[in-house]
Amino acid sequence: MVASDFDTTRLGKTGLKVSELGLGTWRFGHEDDQGNIPIGKERAHTLLDRYSSLGGNLIDTANVYGEGLSEQYIGEWLEDYDRRDFIIGSKIYWPTRDTDPNASGLNRRHIRNQIDKILSRLNTTYLDILYVHRWDETTDVGTVMRTLTNLVSDGKVNYLGFSTSIPNAWRVVRANEYAKKHGLEPFSIVQPQYNLVTRQIESQYLPMCRTYDLAVTTWSPLAGGFLTGKYSRSGTKQEDARGNRDDYFEDRYLTEANFKILDAVREVSNEEGISPTQVSLRWLIENEDVSAPIIGARTVEQLEENIKSTTVSLSQNHITQLDKSGDWSGY
Ligand SMILES: NC(=O)c1ccc[n+]([C@@H]2O[C@H](COP(=O)([O-])OP(=O)(O)OC[C@H]3O[C@@H](n4cnc5c(N)ncnc54)[C@H](OP(=O)(O)O)[C@@H]3O)[C@@H](O)[C@H]2O)c1
Repeated sequence: MVASDFDTTRLGKTGLKVSELGLGTWRFGHEDDQGNIPIGKERAHTLLDRYSSLGGNLIDTANVYGEGLSEQYIGEWLEDYDRRDFIIGSKIYWPTRDTDPNASGLNRRHIRNQIDKILSRLNTTYLDILYVHRWDETTDVGTVMRTLTNLVSDGKVNYLGFSTSIPNAWRVVRANEYAKKHGLEPFSIVQPQYNLVTRQIESQYLPMCRTYDLAVTTWSPLAGGFLTGKYSRSGTKQEDARGNRDDYFEDRYLTEANFKILDAVREVSNEEGISPTQVSLRWLIENEDVSAPIIGARTVEQLEENIKSTTVSLSQNHITQLDKSGDWSGY
């Protein structure tokens, strides 16, 4: 391993130590709404090379990212590296075969089918973390927890994670209480969305994580790039930005409420002399409830800028100013 730019941080009570920022690979092999794949294999390998050369060890993927290409690119890349140097997480839930109504969710059949495909694409015998990508209310909680526990007993998975879009704390607690009562493996890591314009987890979910010692890895820390400051109220400035390529982006992120929060980020950025990107990422790193935000990057320049957020600082006044941006009182 080369000298690290990262400090390591504890992944909750798992005993694992990971770099302060994980590398997300959602966009590896991902076809955008115009039919282009901005991160093909070569670029993916360059990003992984740079991340690992800076000391990063936490790699996040999912069985559906790039319809399996994300895992495949990582697996091919690992051939030149020592698998033991990385903590790799993947996920199961979303459909993998349009014609098969059982090839989705958390039924036993789908989980068992998928785990071997994931390991094969990743060119490994084990996953460090297997997340349920979403919870599946159509499968009995006992079936899910027993199936997942068996994967841990078989040595195919080391830790279980619970990823979510709508942060329903009760679902995690219900599953873990079931596991505890029946001597099964509980979820020890969660992955909700969290960034300066998406803070719903603060009222119930993060306190739940604190109470139950759950590690928190968070997704979309820059709100898909919105918090870099490259979007303006009058429209996107950069042609190749995600906001020009993904239909959902405008409704989700380019709102006046979010631009007001971005105004606060820009103010702090000017006063601290660091970029809005680094302000936004640093605010997350400073949060003691968060183990490791999972960053996305389309270019090496973006990756390097994002990783620099591990070396900058924010004054307590500025953290408070950012905490107060936006109105989260309704959650
Ligand atoms: N568990 C889940 O359900 C879930 C859901 C979503 C994501 N995730 C995980 O979280 C990871 C990160 O999500 P994300 O990609 O949405 O993260 P993000 O950090 O919020 O957004 C990343 C995007 O922002 C832009 N960007 C990043 N750094 C930049 C910089 N320095 N300057 C300018 N633009 C920059 C790039 O897009 P452009 O350059 O194309 O604009 C980049 O692809 C994913 O890869 C995945 O592993 C998990």
